[in-house]
Amino acid sequence: MRPLVATIDLSALCHNYAVAKRCAPGREAFAVVKANAYGHGVREVVTALHDIADGFAVASLEEAAQVRAVHDHARILLLEGCFEAAEVQLAQQLRLDIAVQNAAQLDAVLAAPAGQPLNIWLKLDSGMHRLGFDSDSLRAAHLALQGSPGCAELNLISHFACADERGHELTERQLECFLDVLDLDFDQRSLANSAAILLIPAAHMDWLRPGIMLYGATPFADLSASELGLKPVMTLTAQLIAQRHVAAGESVGYGASWVASRDSVIGTVSCGYADGYPRHAPLGTPVLVDGQRVPLIGRVSMDMLTVDLTDISATVGDSVELWGKQLPVDEVAQAAGTIGYELLTKVTERVPRRYLSHAAS
Ligand SMILES: Cc1ncc(COP(=O)(O)O)c(C=O)c1O
Repeated sequence: MRPLVATIDLSALCHNYAVAKRCAPGREAFAVVKANAYGHGVREVVTALHDIADGFAVASLEEAAQVRAVHDHARILLLEGCFEAAEVQLAQQLRLDIAVQNAAQLDAVLAAPAGQPLNIWLKLDSGMHRLGFDSDSLRAAHLALQGSPGCAELNLISHFACADERGHELTERQLECFLDVLDLDFDQRSLANSAAILLIPAAHMDWLRPGIMLYGATPFADLSASELGLKPVMTLTAQLIAQRHVAAGESVGYGASWVASRDSVIGTVSCGYADGYPRHAPLGTPVLVDGQRVPLIGRVSMDMLTVDLTDISATVGDSVELWGKQLPVDEVAQAAGTIGYELLTKVTERVPRRYLSHAAS
């Protein structure tokens, strides 16, 4: 069997959910499990949080159905709402909470045949300018929905654009915009993603929406996950499958882009871009071989990558951590010019996930 596995520590996941809840005592939280639970496996993540999470948030009806299959009574929030009118009935059947973020979605909800009334989350565009009503249209939508038989709870939701950058002036403006419509009667309000849960208590409202923090990565460039009390959930582990001496002046890998400046020992690792490791990761991106930090060298290929072992002692068969318990995913992401979110969600299907249960970890 190819030596590459993503080990998912479900007790770390539960710990991180508890951290989110502790940040905002008395509030409820939708665990954000879209994109296959940020690459961790939605079925296993929802099962682990089954008795702990107040609800789950997803990006599509298909993802909602996956959550419903393992949790019969959880609140499940469809963050972008229904993509076509016919989905409203399916949302009723799945007993979802749905965002309503534009006039077409509003019309679809108002025109839906009688069925299970839905909890509606009116989405306010408070400044991100991606989805949602501006304040005036939101007031009109509120009026249209209030007392409508298809609407159970009438709720308010919005999303921050820059909460991960501490002190960003847009965050203050978005919060003000949100507070400005609170003269309307809403049953529940939700504004905070991970960054706001961790650092902006004024944004906590009634329902939190933690995503990245659940998986033990940081939303901030200047605050590490461990400083925030978060534990890494995914550890991506490969193996050293070959080792060779390369004389000064010889090149390694595709494009012969890396040339040894000294006599070197080069290791080949069983992980490549078809597994989700970023192909654009530059020279020097950290990799842990048998617990020792070494630099990536050469181009990442489809199934393998290469590292410089000259300064350490290593043996073929050694375990190699690409990210996880000992090497924060955020550090690798930063080296590769991306964010932990992207690395985690891009681990491909061919990488087997191995789950550590509560008892095992
Ligand atoms: C609407 C919405 N809420 C919450 C989240 C969770 O954000 P984070 O992963 O930064 O906590 C997301 C993720 O992108 C989102 O789109």
